[in-house]
Amino acid sequence: MTEGKKRVAILISGRGSNMSALIEAAKAPDYPARIVGVFANRPDAAGLPIAANYGIATAWRWHKDYPSRTGFELALGDVLKLWRPDIIALAGFMRILTPEFTAKWQGRIINIHPSLLPLHRGLHSHAQALADGVTEHGCTVHFVTPGMDEGPTILQARVPVLPGDTPETLAERVLAEEHRIYPEALAMVARGEARFG
Ligand code: GRF
Repeated sequence: MTEGKKRVAILISGRGSNMSALIEAAKAPDYPARIVGVFANRPDAAGLPIAANYGIATAWRWHKDYPSRTGFELALGDVLKLWRPDIIALAGFMRILTPEFTAKWQGRIINIHPSLLPLHRGLHSHAQALADGVTEHGCTVHFVTPGMDEGPTILQARVPVLPGDTPETLAERVLAEEHRIYPEALAMVARGEARFG
């Protein structure tokens, strides 16, 4: 049954393990969304062939081929016109989107960030957490707004910071939680249980 399911486009830049978690979750007959396409901003994103193996449409546009963010987003917009997503899920997508783009998709674009936002925005969030000496760290799924890693939280998960943790060991513990809460948060948005704007 795909009738009534929300159409979701996933945007990635790299290995796409969160993308895979969403694709796997969406296999369940009662999951309220289906993945209609995976887009990357670089040709070598490892997640692209993984999505293709699942039989999902893929596309990439190398952002360096475009002189401006707006030009790149117009190209992305052309792909989205074909896929007609109801929701965009950013999953390790390493491009900052323009306020025009995020305004157009407000309430229909979500992101996962590996920290307990509003703590540790931006890159190297695990190293930031360790440098701060926090005892708890985690991940956040949130609606996307123009500010980077801002926007209302949909779900968060917490993990302990353990003695001897490195950014890598901490990242691994957080990633397992990312894979658990991202499908849950997407389902909430698809069902209208989480709304913004
Ligand atoms: C994840 O930790 C995600 O939270 C962050 O970038 C990483 C992407 O990993 N934004 P993957 O591509 O989903 O495996």
